Amino acid sequence: MEIILAKTAGYCFGVNNAIEAVEQAIKEYQSIHIYTLGPIIHNQQVIEQLSQKGVNSIDNFDDIDDGVIIIRSHGVGMEILNEAASLNLKVINATCPYVKSIQLKVKEYYEKGYQIIIIGSENHPEVKGINGWCNNRALVINHKNSVPNMKKYDKICVVAQTTITKELFHEVTEEIKKADNDAVVFNTICNATKERQKETEDIAKIVDLMIIVGGYHSSNTQKLLTISKKYCTNTMHIETKKDLDIFNYKPYRRIGISAGASTPHWIIKEVIDKMEKEIKEREIDEMNIKEDYEDSFKSFKNGNTVTGKVISVTKEEIYLNIGYKADGIIKKQNYTNDLLLDLIDIVKPDDEIEAVITNLNDGSGYVELSKLKIDQRNARQALENAYHEGAILEGVITKAIKGGLLVKLDVAEVFMPASHYHYKFIKDLEQLVGEKVKGRIIEFDNQKNKIIFSQKVLLEEERQMKKNQVEKEKNDFIHNLKEGQKLVGKVKTIMKYGVFAEIGPVDGFIHISDLSWNKVKHPSEVVKEGDRIETLITSIDKENHKVKLSMKILTENPWTAFRKKYDVKDKVKVQITKIVSFGAFAQIIPQIEGLIHISELSHDKVDKVEDVVKVGDEVETIIIGINNENQKISLSIKEALPPVVREIEANTTVYKEEGTATLGDLFGDMLKDIEK
Ligand code: F3S
Repeated sequence: MEIILAKTAGYCFGVNNAIEAVEQAIKEYQSIHIYTLGPIIHNQQVIEQLSQKGVNSIDNFDDIDDGVIIIRSHGVGMEILNEAASLNLKVINATCPYVKSIQLKVKEYYEKGYQIIIIGSENHPEVKGINGWCNNRALVINHKNSVPNMKKYDKICVVAQTTITKELFHEVTEEIKKADNDAVVFNTICNATKERQKETEDIAKIVDLMIIVGGYHSSNTQKLLTISKKYCTNTMHIETKKDLDIFNYKPYRRIGISAGASTPHWIIKEVIDKMEKEIKEREIDEMNIKEDYEDSFKSFKNGNTVTGKVISVTKEEIYLNIGYKADGIIKKQNYTNDLLLDLIDIVKPDDEIEAVITNLNDGSGYVELSKLKIDQRNARQALENAYHEGAILEGVITKAIKGGLLVKLDVAEVFMPASHYHYKFIKDLEQLVGEKVKGRIIEFDNQKNKIIFSQKVLLEEERQMKKNQVEKEKNDFIHNLKEGQKLVGKVKTIMKYGVFAEIGPVDGFIHISDLSWNKVKHPSEVVKEGDRIETLITSIDKENHKVKLSMKILTENPWTAFRKKYDVKDKVKVQITKIVSFGAFAQIIPQIEGLIHISELSHDKVDKVEDVVKVGDEVETIIIGINNENQKISLSIKEALPPVVREIEANTTVYKEEGTATLGDLFGDMLKDIEK
């Protein structure tokens, strides 16, 4: 920051003279009261200082009888000087020589009959004093519009208050000259004032802040203020350093200082000292702030993450305040993969967006950002977490590519090899596009940029789980089974060697021989699929989950039933079931048959079985033999018939050979085991 101090700032020649006159009087007249007629200058601080030294200001001579009276630089009227001279007072006239010159001119031209015109302020002490040199008959004008009709005056003499502006002087004199009368014009504006005003103007034009130092009631200071404000709107008026507010000039690079003619140099120096001190402190602060500021910018580099607040949004771009010297921009393609989206629909001003810096200057002064990269980074992190946690992820197959499928998960798109879609082989991968899938990340390699998604692992796990569950159910079931336990089952599968029946989590097996007491050629003769059957557990292999069942065991053994009811020699009505060459088989009770040997069919000789019986005939028989071991029964129709008495004809050959015929001769081996 630069401070420009006006060379003309502070006491003017006349004021300086007056102050020195007072200082001299203080030294010279130490035992006498010293007075100034009116404040020696328009500066309260100086007045207070002088008062402390015993110099007081008076407005008139009414209350004093003796002492020293000092006339200030503004001067006084002639009659006041005469009054002072008539009193017992020591008069020191410190009227500024320039002012005194005006007073004498006014006196001269007044005495020559000129109408005196003073351009200035009627109530200013200098003007009052000048007016006192023309018997107070002067016209005092302070604005061009206040110029009266001058034509009534033959001769006029124009002077100026020493501290008015040149503009005012010229405007008023131009107006006066219009009357075209005999006018003597003296530009009595003090050069010191002109120079101070000119320098103030010049400085005000080039600074950011202008400070005018001087009494709040000082006329020349007020004029400086007016001039300065014309060229520098940032103009402040202070009396002393106390009025300085650092915040008023803090943001400025160049500050100008000017001061009124009654401002002592020590006040200006105090002001400058304070400013320099505060500026120095501020520069240190600024340096620290700058360092902090620049430190804060160190985090602004490519690849770093920033959070910005949305300033505005267009269809294609988002502008953000990112706390950097330049604003951020996110182009649509760096915000989303869905280029059909309208950013205005999804982003609003003041939204906060986290993004990655991709380019500190995009060429237009913006910091280029990418939200997609953040999304990708977050997605990658989420996938890595999911991998470590073994989380189940859901997604949709979006595309079939070489070797597998692309699956869109919530967070990202991942690759699923064809072999990881299912444990079953799938030939046509295209048909899977659009299908929802669930799976796990089974491989995550950041360095190789490899992420593998698998549905198969999940399916296998599920399958294994089901298997375990079934196994458990089977175990639980089979451990509760007991041999000899009755079970109702449902025929599930019929094989040629037996039947599988559903009895619970495990199937039971009924061998063909356990289906029925009858001879069964094929199980389908006994049951059909879906039949509900009563069974009994005959054996259990708990380890291998095998249960053997029997149906027939639940029914009475026909042989037992037969033996309970019948014995040898019992008469029984039977039904012929089958004809064979050596006899006929007949059912005695269901599932029990006996054989009627051809020789037992009749008392007569039988050539062919069919000559006596046919299938379906019911005949009375006698049980002639029972073989328990082989469960064979011999029947005889013949024995059930009344005995036949027959004559043996002379030539009939009863026996082929001589000897005695036995039943064995007649039945062969058939009856050799039958109980008689
Ligand atoms: Fe005199 Fe000029 Fe100052 S007239 S008092 S030197 S402003």
